[in-house]
Formats: sequence, structure tokens, C-alpha cells
Amino acid sequence: MTIKDFFTENNKDLDKNQARDFGWLIVEKLKSEPIEWGSKVISTKDQNEIKRDLKRLKSGEPLGYILGTVPFVNCEIKVTPDVLIPRSETEQLCDYIINEYEGVPTKILDMCTGSGCIAVALAKNLDAFVLATDISEKALSVARQNALANFAQVDFVSGDMFERVTGTFDIIVCNPPYLSEKEIENLPKSVKDYEPSSALFGGVDGLDFYKKLSAEAPKFLNSGGVMYLEVGDFQADAVAEILNKNFDCDIMSDYYGFDRFVIARSKK
Ligand SMILES: C[S@@+](CC[C@H](N)C(=O)[O-])C[C@H]1O[C@@H](n2cnc3c(N)ncnc32)[C@H](O)[C@@H]1O
Repeated sequence: MTIKDFFTENNKDLDKNQARDFGWLIVEKLKSEPIEWGSKVISTKDQNEIKRDLKRLKSGEPLGYILGTVPFVNCEIKVTPDVLIPRSETEQLCDYIINEYEGVPTKILDMCTGSGCIAVALAKNLDAFVLATDISEKALSVARQNALANFAQVDFVSGDMFERVTGTFDIIVCNPPYLSEKEIENLPKSVKDYEPSSALFGGVDGLDFYKKLSAEAPKFLNSGGVMYLEVGDFQADAVAEILNKNFDCDIMSDYYGFDRFVIARSKK
């Protein structure tokens, strides 16, 4: 059987997103681009393995956990159920920071590092000292593996926000848990049932972490330091408002036109 026939036979009852993920699954597992599928034969062993993975996809498990790694900037990031799967918005934020600070020696704190995707991408692409922190030891274990696998020099420390952070930084970057109580109720199954809830929930209004950052970050920023924050849909104005006392804020949109980033420049 050709890969093309295998794909056609098994994608019949999939919705649009599942069919896209099924396609990616085949590309990744067989290391074969769709253009070759009509002329390449798939072994029975590969068919059985991919059918097993397809069952997991159909039950709602995200593709990232099934494959075990995701591409992020120019890094390969390992993901397990202990960490959030890095999103394309976060990649956009890293690309932006890398462009801004290329060639400039910089001290960076990555708060709420999870898989370490941000810390690893910035350490690999900038002339930077990077410290990363997270409350979850299990997440930090994955983040450490990602730093090693990507040849990125990152220091890690576990703790509640700034609890165990020492020193001052030119940049604090943070993609904190930011979903509100209401949003948690309406999450898709692939997120609610599979991604760690500690990576998602940001308090009743989703803004708890931004309030803590606003109060504590100034002590950890060098003069002229900048915070780069990812925020949830429709939170950017509220976050800028929270930060206004100590920071001059700019709001930046993602590639889809949603205001998803707040850039907060220290007033001191
Ligand atoms: C939205 S995830 C972001 C992960 C990663 N930075 C990314 O962008 O994919 C938020 C992370 O915050 C961590 N976290 C939750 N509460 C925390 C706290 N009080 N202090 C530090 N980290 C915390 C979670 O363990 C999770 O890894």
C-alpha cells in the first residue's frame, strides 16, 4: 500500500484539524513529504504504529505529546504532559526579542519557563546570560533536558515567581498562566484533559501573575529594563493598566491580528 492510500483510507472520519495533524504525524514518523506519498510504500509495522498514534489523536490528545517534540524557533523542544506545548505566539515573541537584541550582551530572566522553550531559544540565539524559573520541578527537569539537547547555556532555579531569583536583569520575559475561571470551563478537550492545569489558570480574572509581576519585577530589572509578556486574548489593555504605574507599555499583536503581547519598559 502507498502512503497516499494509507492516508486516504484512514482520514475518512477525521475533522479538518485532525486530518491536518494526521498528515503531520505521517510526515514526522516516516520522514516523508506529501509530494512523495503516491510513489512510496508504507510497511505493515509503520501502519500499525501510526494507527496506534491516530487512536490517541482521535481521543483528543495533542499532536505535540504524541510526537514528543515540537519545533520552536531553531530548536527542537521535548514536551511531556508536565509542560505546556509551546505555541506559535510564544515563538513570535522570541523571534521579536532575538531581532531586537542581536549582538547585544544581555541578562535575561525567563519567568514561568515550563518546557524552557523561551529560555533555550533566547540563549541559543543571543549573546545572553539566561536564568529560567518555574514552580514545577517536573517542568524544570524537561527544561534542563531541552537546554542540554539544544546546546543552550541556561541556569535554572525552582520557586514561586521571584522567590529564589537573585540579581537584576535587562529583560524579564514571561508567558504566565493567564486563563480566567470562566475560560477554563470552556477550554477544548485537547487542552483541558491533557495540558497541566498549573500552566493555565491565572486566578479568577486570569490576571494574578501580571499583578505579581507589576509589584515585584521592578526590583529585578536594571535601569531601562524591559518586560516582554504574553497575554491572553482581550487581556492586553487590562495588563497594561496594571503595569502603568512603574512601566511605559506598548501592546503588540500576533500574526492573526490579536493583541497578544505587552512590552513594558521600566520607568526607572
Ligand atoms: C503558560 S506556561 C508557559 C510555559 C512556557 N514558558 C511557554 O511559553 O510555553 C506557565 C508556566 O508557569 C508555571 N507556573 C505556575 N505557577 C507558577 C508560579 N507561582 N511561579 C513560577 N512558575 C509558575 C507553570 O508550571 C508553567 O510551566
